[in-house]
Amino acid sequence: MGRTHNEQSEGFPGGATVGVVKESADDERRVALVPKLIPSLLAAGLDIVVEAGAGAGALIPDSAYVEAGARVGDPWSAEIVVKVAPPSDAEMAQLSAGQTLIGFLAPRTADNRIEALQRAGVQAFAVESIPRISRAQVMDALSSQANVAGYKAVLLAASESTRFFPMLTTAAGTVKPATVLVLGVGVAGLQALATAKRLGGRTTGYDVRPEVADQVRSVGAQWLDLGIDAAGAGGYARELTDAEKDEQQRALEEAIKGFDVVITTALVPGRPAPRLVTDAAVRGMKPGSVIVDLAGETGGNCELTEPGQNVVKHDVTICSPLNLPATMPEHASELYAKNIAALLELIVDANGCLAIDFDDAIIDGACVSRVAGAPGTEVSAP
Ligand code: NAI
Repeated sequence: MGRTHNEQSEGFPGGATVGVVKESADDERRVALVPKLIPSLLAAGLDIVVEAGAGAGALIPDSAYVEAGARVGDPWSAEIVVKVAPPSDAEMAQLSAGQTLIGFLAPRTADNRIEALQRAGVQAFAVESIPRISRAQVMDALSSQANVAGYKAVLLAASESTRFFPMLTTAAGTVKPATVLVLGVGVAGLQALATAKRLGGRTTGYDVRPEVADQVRSVGAQWLDLGIDAAGAGGYARELTDAEKDEQQRALEEAIKGFDVVITTALVPGRPAPRLVTDAAVRGMKPGSVIVDLAGETGGNCELTEPGQNVVKHDVTICSPLNLPATMPEHASELYAKNIAALLELIVDANGCLAIDFDDAIIDGACVSRVAGAPGTEVSAP
C-alpha cells in the first residue's frame, strides 16, 4: 500500500509529490502531465509519481516519464493529484482528506461532486474556473482544449462532406470552394474559421457578442450580423430572451441555406446549449451538406443533433462528437500539461511545498473546494 501524502511529504526533502493519474473514462486518451515538462517541475522542487500506463492513450510509455525524472507508482497517495477528466465515483473513493486535486471538475454542473470533495476534505482546483485574465492565459485549459476541438471539427466536416473545401481548377472542370459558417466564435469557433480557411473554404462567422466581428475578419472570414447583442459578464455570452431566440432562429434559417458546412460551438456557461439550428434550417440546406455540432455535451446547438452520434437528417449529415480533444491525445495532452504545470508552479513555494495564496485572483477563482487548514493554506486563511 502506498504511503500517505503526509508521510510522502516528510520523506522527500524537496517539496510536494504530484500524482499523475491514468484516466479511466473509456474515451479519454489524454494525460495531465507529459515527460517534457517534468524537468522544470523537478527543478521547482516537486516530486512526480506517474501511474503505470498513464500516458498510454497518448502513446507516451512509462519509460519516457522515468527518463525525464519521474517515478512510476501510486498517484492517489500523492499530496497533489492531477487529472484530465472529472473523477469517477471509484476515483473519488481513492482520494483522502488533506489532498489537493487539479483537473476538469465541471464545477457548474457537478455540484454533488464538488460537495463530496469538500466533505472528504479534499482541496480542489477546477481548470474551468481559472479566470480569463492575461496572467492566467498560460493556464487556460478551456482555451487550449477548445483550440484542438475547433481544428478537429473542421477535419471531421471535410471528411463527411460530399464536396471539396478548396476551389479546384482541373482539366475536368472547376469546383467552387465550400462555404463554411461557424456559429459561436469563441476560442473553438475562431480556430475552426482559421482551419477551414487554410483548407480553402469560404468562411463566415456569427456570434451574439459584437466584439467578435473584428476577430472573425482577422482570420479572413466574413461577419454575419443578425443584429442581436447578448454580451454577458466576463467576456461570455448571456442567454437570449425567448423573443431573441425566436428572432435568431428565424434569421439563421434563412442564412444557413447557402452554406455547405455549418460548425456550431455556441455555449452559455452553466446553461443548456442555445438552439440555433432548427429542423426547418436543416431542411433548407442542400443535400450532402454537413453540420458539426460541438455543443453536444450540453444538448447541442442543432435541434436534430444526437449527442455522440453521426446522423443523416433531410440528407444532411449531423455530427456531434463528444470530447474531441481526446481524439488528438498527443498535442491535446501537451497543451493541457503546460496549463497544469503553470498552475502547479503558482501553488508551490520556492521549495516546491504547497503554498496557497487565496489573495491571488487565479487561485481564488480556481479553488472550488476549500478546506480550512488544508496543506499549504497556512499562508492565508480561506
Ligand atoms: P464559450 O465556449 O463559452 O462560447 C462559445 C461562443 O458561443 C462564445 O463566443 C459565445 O459568445 C457564443 N454564443 C453563446 N450563445 C450564443 C448564441 N445564442 N448565438 C451565437 N453565439 C453564441 O466561449 P469561449 O471560447 O470559452 O470564450 C469565452 C470568452 O473568453 C470570450 O470572450 C473569449 O474571448 C474570452 N477568452 C479570454 C481569454 C483571456 O485570457 N483573456 C482567453 C480565452 C478566451
